[in-house]
Amino acid sequence: MRLTILGGGGFRVPLVYGALLRDRGEGRITSVTLHDVDAGRLAAVGRVLADQAAGVPDAPAVTATTDLDEALRGADFVFSAIRVGGLAGRAADERVALAEGVLGQETVGAGGIAYGLRTVPVATEIARRVAALAPDAWVINFTNPAGLVTEAMGCVLGDRVIGICDSPVGLARRVARTLGADPGTARVEYAGLNHLGWLTGLYVAGRDRLPRLLGDPGLLGSFEEGRLFGAEWLASLGAIPNEYLHYYYFNRETVDAYRSARHTRGAFLRDQQAGFYTEVGGAGEPGPGAASAAWHRTLAEREATYMAANRDAAGVGDRDEEDLESGGYEKVALALMRAIAHDEKATLILNVRNRGTLPVLDDDAVVEVVCAVDANGARPLATGALPGHAAGLVTAVKAVERAVLAAADSGARADAVKAFALHPLVDSVAVARRLVDGYAAAHPGLAHLGG
Ligand code: G6P
Ligand code: MN
Repeated sequence: MRLTILGGGGFRVPLVYGALLRDRGEGRITSVTLHDVDAGRLAAVGRVLADQAAGVPDAPAVTATTDLDEALRGADFVFSAIRVGGLAGRAADERVALAEGVLGQETVGAGGIAYGLRTVPVATEIARRVAALAPDAWVINFTNPAGLVTEAMGCVLGDRVIGICDSPVGLARRVARTLGADPGTARVEYAGLNHLGWLTGLYVAGRDRLPRLLGDPGLLGSFEEGRLFGAEWLASLGAIPNEYLHYYYFNRETVDAYRSARHTRGAFLRDQQAGFYTEVGGAGEPGPGAASAAWHRTLAEREATYMAANRDAAGVGDRDEEDLESGGYEKVALALMRAIAHDEKATLILNVRNRGTLPVLDDDAVVEVVCAVDANGARPLATGALPGHAAGLVTAVKAVERAVLAAADSGARADAVKAFALHPLVDSVAVARRLVDGYAAAHPGLAHLGG
């Protein structure tokens, strides 16, 4: 089995490779092709992977290329985890929005729209190359904003592209543990869009245990989402929101926290990652284990500071120790790949076409819901109705995503203005127009949208 990773010079590639190394199962991935537009980043990550593989018998062979077509030919699975415009682009997405007093975040609000506008054309072109060169491959999309990008790629690849995110599985794990349930066997009800979902039930032996949690402020205060949102608000909601909903429910506070922070998340990561790639990718071969040690150190710092501004805004302390080990997106990816490759039935929360699961959206809208996976791919499972206000937010944000897809397709300024103006976290059409001007000035690829 051959896996191609697009964005192969990305910082989180060693997480995926580590999961492959631990997979001793029949029919596992035996060869990995890394593709990236930046040869220097490929070389640095290659050094980390070589450290990881040292001494492991039958470690998957690794090759690297900057030629997309060469990377795609013969692939059984394609992971897409690219970052158009790099972390400097992410920092600019944040900066332009915050200058207008609205949220600038990688995937949420104005920042997410700008990132989507930059990414959709590239992801669509990748999908076309996959369709031409590896039509039988399954594409697993990690590229953010993951729901929107999966929908764009799905216009070319249909159900052959599946989007993944680790935040729902992390949330479900924390809720299960808090209730003393086994995260591996509890049945979870979770639905929405990527980074805009709610856990509405957690069943053990056929009984929903969520009401017990919602009725116990002590238990609610004992895990990440409970602390972030506060027990009282979660009890009012009657569901546990994905952590990214903190940007909605506490919008003013998170915008203030981002504006007053020394650096935004994107700016912090831009500088931190530059340090890592310089250290590991520089001239001269690092000694055995040195690349991997630098990577672990950088990862630990990255995990510890995840959503730090939100935790500051909420007045809560550090993350729990057990949440610091990576969120597990590589585990979701591996579980998905195994279920498809071996027809091993699995239940996973994934980004797929709706097909009636959320009645407020059309069948082709990509949603993030619980799915049954086997050799035929991922099929969304029926789920309970979302609370009314959640259905409203999902509908509003899907309308924004559709406007982003239209703007990426037409290149028209009016379509881009519409995407920003419709977003619940952008409070005026006049602001939306200035945002489009700001992004057109900040990103050469969006210059055509300027007024
Ligand atoms: C979560 C999200 C991902 C995101 C990751 C890293 O796991 O679900 O979509 O890529 O966090 O966020 P960071 O701010 O550290 O880049
Ligand atoms: Mn995610």
